[in-house]
Amino acid sequence: MAVRRLHPDQPASFAFTPENLAWAKARIAQYPEGKQASAVIPLLWRAQEQEGWTTEPAIRAVADTLGMAYIRVYEIATFYTMYQLSPVGKKAHFQVCGTTPCMLRGAEGIIEVCRARIHHDPHHLSADGAFSWEEVECIGACANAPVVQILKDVWEDLTPESFAKVLDGFAAGKPPAPGSQAGRTASSPVGGATTLTDAKLYDGTAVGGWQKSFADREKAAAEAAAKAAAAAPAAKS
Ligand code: FES
Repeated sequence: MAVRRLHPDQPASFAFTPENLAWAKARIAQYPEGKQASAVIPLLWRAQEQEGWTTEPAIRAVADTLGMAYIRVYEIATFYTMYQLSPVGKKAHFQVCGTTPCMLRGAEGIIEVCRARIHHDPHHLSADGAFSWEEVECIGACANAPVVQILKDVWEDLTPESFAKVLDGFAAGKPPAPGSQAGRTASSPVGGATTLTDAKLYDGTAVGGWQKSFADREKAAAEAAAKAAAAAPAAKS
């Protein structure tokens, strides 16, 4: 994980737009009196959506709005990788998961595409300013590794080729739908189910099956015991 610091070049000020300010006030009102600081995460996110990245004036503005010390909001903004501390690409900022499951499933290939097509180094804009990228820790979609997150969405089961298509899609303004790029539903097996495939499991005929199985085992054990008992005198004689 890279050290996360504020960008050296900051805008002079920040103010929520009237629409976002109304949204922020409504969000703050959802919390009980004295707990307004709980709105810090959504307010920071809204500020980032407005500005494109999380600026130092925005951190101060959110802190002032919530009556929090600047350092408390700074700590939050610098801890969570959902907050971008430097300007990002206008069309997309790719957060490539580089934690073990994604790395084992080919994250390095995704990063190579980022290096080749966006910029060699993370947190730098592409030549046209459209894209940027960074490596992040696990984003909670390991079953569909490797994955890339853009804002609130995640593109999964990526290969260098399918990631290039995602990048092309954002460049053209028509990105492919988020989710698995291998065509599977959620994290179900590629090619369909491999377990629990017996239809009887779902048509009701197997209900209570465990009781029959249990009774069959009991009966077999009793029969075996009776057989052994019957054979015992013969063995003695
Ligand atoms: S390791 Fe990549 S999403 Fe968890």
